[in-house]
Amino acid sequence: MDRPRVSRILSDGQPGEPVEISGWVRTRRDSKDGFSFVELNDGSCMANLQLVIDSSVPGYAETIKNVTTGSSIKITGEIKESPGKKQRVEVHASTLELIGTADVESYPLQKKRHSFEFLREIAHLRPRTNTFGAIARVRNAASAAIHNFFQERGFLYVHTPVITTSDCEGAGEMFQVTTLLHDDKPPKSLDYTEDFFGKRASLTVSGQLEAEIYATSVGECYTFGPTFRAENSNTTRHLAEFWMIEPEMPFYELPQNMQLAEDFVRSVIKMVLEKCPDDMQFFNDRIDKTVLETLKNITENEFLRVSYTDAIEILEQSGKKWEYPVSWGQDLQSEHERFLTEQHFKQPIILFDYPRTIKPFYMRCNDDNKTVRAMDVLVPRIGEIIGGSQREERYDVLLDRMKEQDLNPDEYWWYLELRKFGSVPHSGFGLGFERLILLLTGMQNIRDVIPFPRTPKNAEF
Ligand code: 4AD
Ligand code: MG
Repeated sequence: MDRPRVSRILSDGQPGEPVEISGWVRTRRDSKDGFSFVELNDGSCMANLQLVIDSSVPGYAETIKNVTTGSSIKITGEIKESPGKKQRVEVHASTLELIGTADVESYPLQKKRHSFEFLREIAHLRPRTNTFGAIARVRNAASAAIHNFFQERGFLYVHTPVITTSDCEGAGEMFQVTTLLHDDKPPKSLDYTEDFFGKRASLTVSGQLEAEIYATSVGECYTFGPTFRAENSNTTRHLAEFWMIEPEMPFYELPQNMQLAEDFVRSVIKMVLEKCPDDMQFFNDRIDKTVLETLKNITENEFLRVSYTDAIEILEQSGKKWEYPVSWGQDLQSEHERFLTEQHFKQPIILFDYPRTIKPFYMRCNDDNKTVRAMDVLVPRIGEIIGGSQREERYDVLLDRMKEQDLNPDEYWWYLELRKFGSVPHSGFGLGFERLILLLTGMQNIRDVIPFPRTPKNAEF
């Protein structure tokens, strides 16, 4: 039998119904007339369940003083219509069991607002707060929505490896995986043939290359897994460990890829809004008053397609002073991306056809020999949320690109072979899951939308 949860009682519990419920105490208020009100939360929804515990409940006198904020209790009782305005129903207890105490002096989550910085230091307790409970539920709903979106379209979910020997993005930002280092065996010069995998291995920065293998065999597919980047950027948009969703589609060229990315983002947002109305209202009321409006703007407007070259011209003519100067051939920084989507176009945009020198080896070269078929989806408040491209399917061009970027083609022999045997045009993209959660919740810092953030100098919990 399902364990009874607060969300169920609040949504369709009927007066007169007997219930048993357990959870964590948010607050307790003792009335002069010999009973206590307890606000109980079990994480199943934003709202607390109001319990009325009368002094006639067995053990009340000894127990109630320990029913403090943070303690865990179990009660049995009966649902009653609530006379209060805040809730439809409440529960009148007939038994009370204190399960775990929480010392009033040392429990860190007292009933006041705590800063997000402080809450990061107590990541083992922060999901008990309204904000982090809501984020956990929105992450869950977004994950389900993502699987739904692809499953409904017949995409296969493929599991790509976490440990890999190739650097997909070619940026050298990989965490190494080795068994060569032991305290009793100081490294002289590491001989990777002696290492666990017999060659230098790392945590993956992307499942794309393996997804391409499956896309060109079983068809439309997607990955949804953890990815790792050892980029030492202490920003509010970067994590060393984050989750990425990477669809890969055979026979798609860039325009279809862009269309899928647009449909995907809009559809996932809609599904989360439907699934988590209370949590989304909370984010709009308490975290960022523009969240719902921003999301509405995204779901109701088509994403504009703008070429990189046009974007550079807009940025150059904006009259703005940039921290990073703009010129054709330079990568766009977050200040540029946010200007374009927030101030200039005021809606999501998809930039495409970037200079080949700033993009990875696998992107398809355009006939101008200067640009590649890259696309980035930019949304207000975040900047880049998706990066993708059409892939280079021509063997010789791909080989040249690898050499151009100082990659050793021998290490990518299997990737090259896909271009020898039945090569087809194909495309895909990667959505940063935590960036999507930033967008959905209005939270400011990416460290607060993943349960246990990994960032430079931080891997606690
Ligand atoms: O643009 P990126 O680097 O693209 C790829 O990895 C491709 N292999 C994807 C593909 O075509 N299959 O990363 C994709 C997205 C970014 O747009 C961003 O949302 C997110 O991943 N991302 C990060 N999120 C959090 N922390 C980081 N350090 C991130 N780096 C990228
Ligand atoms: Mg990118």
